[in-house]
Amino acid sequence: MSNRYTITAALPYTNGPIHIGHLAGVYVPADIYARYLRLKGNDVAFICGSDEHGVPITIKAKNEGVSPQDIVDKYHAIIKQSFEEFGISFDNYSRTSAKIHHETASEFFKTLHDKGEFIEETNEQLYDEKANQFLADRFVTGTCPKCGNEEAYGDQCENCGTSLNATDLINPKSAITGNVPTLKQTKHWFLPLDKHEAFLRSWILEGHKSDWKPNVYGQVKSWIDDGLRPRAVTRDLDWGIPVPVEGAEGKVLYVWFDAPIGYISSTKEWAKRVGKDWEPYWKDKDTKLIHFIGKDNIVFHCIIFPAMLQAEGSYILPDNVPANEFLNLEGNKLSTSKNWAVWLPEYLIDFPNQQDVLRYALTANAPEAKDNDFTWKDFQARNNNELVAIFGNFINRVVVLTNKYYNSIVPTPHDFSKIDEETLAAVKTYPNVISSSIERYRFREAQQELMNLARLGNKYLADEEPWKVIKVDEARVQTIMYIALQIASALATLSEPFLPFTSGKLKHILKVSSSDSTTENRIEKSWNDIATKSVLMPSGHQIGQAELLFSKIEDEAIQEQIDKLVASKKANEAANKTVDPQKDTITFDDFSKLDIRVGTILEAEKMPKAKKLLVLKVDTGIDVRTIVSGIAESFTAEEVVGKKVTVLVNLAPRALRGVESQGMILMTENEEGKLVFVNPDDTSVANGLKIS
Ligand code: MF3
Ligand code: ZN
Repeated sequence: MSNRYTITAALPYTNGPIHIGHLAGVYVPADIYARYLRLKGNDVAFICGSDEHGVPITIKAKNEGVSPQDIVDKYHAIIKQSFEEFGISFDNYSRTSAKIHHETASEFFKTLHDKGEFIEETNEQLYDEKANQFLADRFVTGTCPKCGNEEAYGDQCENCGTSLNATDLINPKSAITGNVPTLKQTKHWFLPLDKHEAFLRSWILEGHKSDWKPNVYGQVKSWIDDGLRPRAVTRDLDWGIPVPVEGAEGKVLYVWFDAPIGYISSTKEWAKRVGKDWEPYWKDKDTKLIHFIGKDNIVFHCIIFPAMLQAEGSYILPDNVPANEFLNLEGNKLSTSKNWAVWLPEYLIDFPNQQDVLRYALTANAPEAKDNDFTWKDFQARNNNELVAIFGNFINRVVVLTNKYYNSIVPTPHDFSKIDEETLAAVKTYPNVISSSIERYRFREAQQELMNLARLGNKYLADEEPWKVIKVDEARVQTIMYIALQIASALATLSEPFLPFTSGKLKHILKVSSSDSTTENRIEKSWNDIATKSVLMPSGHQIGQAELLFSKIEDEAIQEQIDKLVASKKANEAANKTVDPQKDTITFDDFSKLDIRVGTILEAEKMPKAKKLLVLKVDTGIDVRTIVSGIAESFTAEEVVGKKVTVLVNLAPRALRGVESQGMILMTENEEGKLVFVNPDDTSVANGLKIS
């Protein structure tokens, strides 16, 4: 009997395209898992869809002067296409603006409502008087009460992951107008998470201590230990699913209430399309439900959604939630707004047909246990040194030699040597080794093992040297090539979850895929066959012609990508010049202690062996004194002579490189990072005048 799995991947917000962070953190691991389970003969529903409600979408629509529906229509199409192009093998990709979803989510809410699972409460919420709108979620930012992050949102702090109520924020500010919000009474429906605490404790903290990833378990434990509070599941907004009960006009479901139900509605949509019953995928205790998400989604999938499912009563709970940490890009946090990202549509323009290379590099570097960094150099190295030099090289040798020596027909082997026997035995161990890693959600390790199989093949050929032996012992070469072809066949199957395009190409070259052969002579193998069948590719089978699986990526292509990032960094710096926050207030007495005068630089020379320092003689009106100033990277000595400057004259003298500096020239920094003088730029101003 086959095992049933419902695998979900976080529904992406439909306010922009998908970037490598999404792919690495959620969609590639989920896809590897789903493809693997299918190859093992399981019954899999791999479910996703677009998350089309929520504040970021309405903000984007406002900014662009279009409707939220326009925004989601545009990005739903783009995102869906990216997933298809990258081989993310969803059984269904739906969207939360779909009718079936509105119905499913409304019904879910009504069930909980009728069961008395909500608390209805009227209380004060943040309100923007200017925009005439309540502020929740991403409409409001402020300081996180837990970690002090000044850019926390009304529903969550992205720095520490804490889930927040908007009213928890310190110094809240409207994201629409920048106004300080006022408080206004409004009624909402709350899910009393505190009521579910005991169940969550025993289910996760006791039940999943050893099988959930430590990063996930740890976060969940700390939230539960902090104490759970009722959480509003409705909002005063006009974009979303209307709250389906009396007295809720103008209110919609909270996006994090409706979105996870999207997994259910997408499953329903799929089942209907393929003529199946959706319910076992969500209600049969033998079904394994697995949520693939990024770490910012942990609280919603491990606490809130399970509490909803439990309250509803007829659903199963997730078996595991293998959340990943974050992927950074060239040392910085990925950011949509700062355009610090590699967008999938752009990647495919620059690297056409190279989906597997990106999948490979992202899995090799997946942020499974901690945040990780994607660099273009690493991407290049993974391609050139691993995919090209190991996997591609092995397959190319095998196929080219088989074409050449045997007219593409798999030869008949003779007696196996000890090495041959060991090699064949080693190949058989790979399905289990890779399975064991995948089943523990260790996809990088699993992919490394796949490459080890390619390495094994490469080494076998390098050691046995058929291209030399052919001159002296043709029979031996038949055996060598037969064995090499068995390894190639194993690679064609076992690479499928990781490198689906390559696997397809390889099966085509080896003529083992269903499209290349009739049913009778089809020799495409399943995952388990690799471990159990003694022959993977029979003698006499004819393979196709050699084709390159991978090609080298040159330095120029990588430099182009790095240049792109540098350009977006510059554009950003110009666009969002950050202003330092104001320092603590000082008294007038504090200020009057500073003695700041107008002065003129009379002489200047470079401090030997110091990149930044100039030694200046400055006429302060009081005296002519020496000041050492760290401005040499912005000015030459000649340039500054004669300049009017402002000088803090009563700063305690300080020796810099053995020269006593008797004051400080006031400087500021312009947008390009060049220093400029705080300059009473008027020759009529007398030296020694006080700045006050
Ligand atoms: N849209 C959310 C995000 O991108 C994820 C939603 S997952 C779901 O962070 F469970 F709500 F569907
Ligand atoms: Zn925080």
